[in-house]
Amino acid sequence: MWKIQTPLKNINGKLFFANVSASKLASKFGTPLFVTDSERIISNYNNLYSAFSSHYDKFKINYAVKANNNLSVLKLFNSLGSGADCSCPEEIFLAKKIGFSSKDILYTGNYNSDDQLSYALKQKIMINVDSSSILPRLLKIGTPNTISFRINPGIGSGSHSVLVFGGKNTKFGMSKKDAVAAYRLAKKSGVKKFGIHMMTGSSILDSSYFKKATSKLIDIAVEIVEECKISLDFINIGGGFGIPYKPPEKPLDMKKVGSDIGKIFNGRKSSRILDKPWLYVEPGRYLVADSTILLTNVHSIKKGPINYVGIDAGMNTLLRPALYDAYHHVVNASRLNSRSNESVNICGQICENTDILAKNRKIGNVKEGDLLAILNVGAYGFSMSSQYNTRPRAAEVMINKKYSKIIRQRETINDLIKGQKVVTWFK
Ligand code: LLP
Repeated sequence: MWKIQTPLKNINGKLFFANVSASKLASKFGTPLFVTDSERIISNYNNLYSAFSSHYDKFKINYAVKANNNLSVLKLFNSLGSGADCSCPEEIFLAKKIGFSSKDILYTGNYNSDDQLSYALKQKIMINVDSSSILPRLLKIGTPNTISFRINPGIGSGSHSVLVFGGKNTKFGMSKKDAVAAYRLAKKSGVKKFGIHMMTGSSILDSSYFKKATSKLIDIAVEIVEECKISLDFINIGGGFGIPYKPPEKPLDMKKVGSDIGKIFNGRKSSRILDKPWLYVEPGRYLVADSTILLTNVHSIKKGPINYVGIDAGMNTLLRPALYDAYHHVVNASRLNSRSNESVNICGQICENTDILAKNRKIGNVKEGDLLAILNVGAYGFSMSSQYNTRPRAAEVMINKKYSKIIRQRETINDLIKGQKVVTWFK
């Protein structure tokens, strides 16, 4: 078995996750089932925190809620001392509900409506503005205490072309020139505290990229500080830290990332101009992706030129393979020791040809009734799932060595019709 998820164990050919039997979880809670190990989230958080804070002490993690918005996951981050990076009022609502205080919530939207800006203003949270046309509209509604601007530093990276958010061909961020005008206007309008932000891509495993992008942002920050005569309270270098999904990918060298970025922040250029700003990051994937597996049952196997293994999870449950051709490792939780040369495509039950969760895989001598585990689904797994093809969404369970608890009920047929009204005027 590919040893990337440390809580996974093979005991007599059966899969155990954080010491809990996968088959017991499946029979107790049903499938498809997202199972999240809380300990793994804690250790990811601590790894990231120590990698940066040992080089630069004014360091803060703001968990990107969009990766996994389960309330228990948010509660866990809140208890660890994390802030929350929110992309919309609904995520701000969740963060507040679970106990994040206003000062720990960042709002990075894009192409925001007046209603969204007004909601964020009322919550007294930090607002990160993505384009200069938004600022005058925001200032008409009210003056935030703290504002930051999302810069496009001219470069980007990501595991898939659509996961690159910086450089050319992206709808995100603003140029330095636009940012200078925006900081000036904000200052004139009475904004007291400033930050600067970038988010240039997702799922990046190359540690040197973060150094390169951060140097660019610092150069821009220094110029803005000089030109606008402001000081920066924080510099937010975004998220984007990758995890290994596909063998033989190696984990991101987070210690190196932390030390490189610490050096830049402690370096002569930054410390000469910048008055020791906070260093913010806002990762989603790095913190939660490998905390979660998706348990799913094999219902039907079709043999042919291509062998199809049909499971009860599909692109409605896990969209990443269909949308980004993303790789998720799959193991046969019922027979880990079984070996077969036969390759299979693992597919869901959705009426789409893109409904393939894994292509060309060897998962032993797989049989109908087997339990499979799809790995590394904690980030953008449940949060991107849908009810497409009239399917209730899966359940979520959180476990550690002692407990296993439902943290989101499986949807029922009633959830599928919730809120609908049947009109009959065409009778
Ligand atoms: N901050 C902002 C402003 C973002 O837009 C994102 C992600 C993050 C932080 C967190 O990025 P991370 O650390 O997770 O890379 N659905 C895709 C990922 C899209 C990321 C969107 N923005 C996937 O399944 O891979």
